[in-house]
Amino acid sequence: MFSIAIDGPAGAGKSTIAKTIAKKLGFVYVDTGAMYRAMGLYFLRKGVDGQDGETIAAMCPEISVTIEYVDGEQQVLLNGENVSGLIRTEEVGQMASVSSAQPAVRAALLQLQRDMAKSANILMDGRDIGTKVLPDAQLKIFLTASADVRAKRRYDELTAKGVSCDYEVIKQDIIKRDHQDMTRATAPLRQAEDAVLVDSSYMTINQVVEAIIAEYHKVLESSAF
Ligand code: DC
Repeated sequence: MFSIAIDGPAGAGKSTIAKTIAKKLGFVYVDTGAMYRAMGLYFLRKGVDGQDGETIAAMCPEISVTIEYVDGEQQVLLNGENVSGLIRTEEVGQMASVSSAQPAVRAALLQLQRDMAKSANILMDGRDIGTKVLPDAQLKIFLTASADVRAKRRYDELTAKGVSCDYEVIKQDIIKRDHQDMTRATAPLRQAEDAVLVDSSYMTINQVVEAIIAEYHKVLESSAF
């Protein structure tokens, strides 16, 4: 099996790029952020404080997150309920960022993520895929972009949808989330030593896709795959 790990901060374009590459290569795409978001949604619904490690750890055994594919699109199920449409809000993203720092939350998802890589060629994106979940992935990419560029992309995306928003607020949210994800004690966001750094600040989506596919071909050529 071939595994590609793509890690990086919020808003670097990971999911769009990962989805496109997975389709082109015929790999299964696994969005691990969606799993943390599903758990975050559970904690929000229960009104739990994401920093309350004891309560969160006690709740983890009640939570089952599973993944299904419908027409090639990943669906996330929270205790059997398809929550894929409910997890894309800023509120859920913030709760996912805070609660994912809890070791019990990470432990609950780690095995599921590793098992998914055993049965198919996968492209998995997240924060700790290259460093922790799939340390033996044949290709690791660390995809980043400056906070300004990421905030501008998010601002344009929301404005295009007719949502009124403030660029500075978006940028501050991004900086806050980067800080939380990079400074937590358990599996913080960082570039794996053997990951290829791709800075998408001044690249189009297509250029990033092509650059990563070129890295994939390099691995194929230099190994027995
Ligand atoms: O990629 P995303 O925005 O959907 O992820 C939401 C949060 O989940 C992110 O802020 C941190 C957490 N996360 C994580 O801790 N580890 C992962 N592999 C993926 C996401």
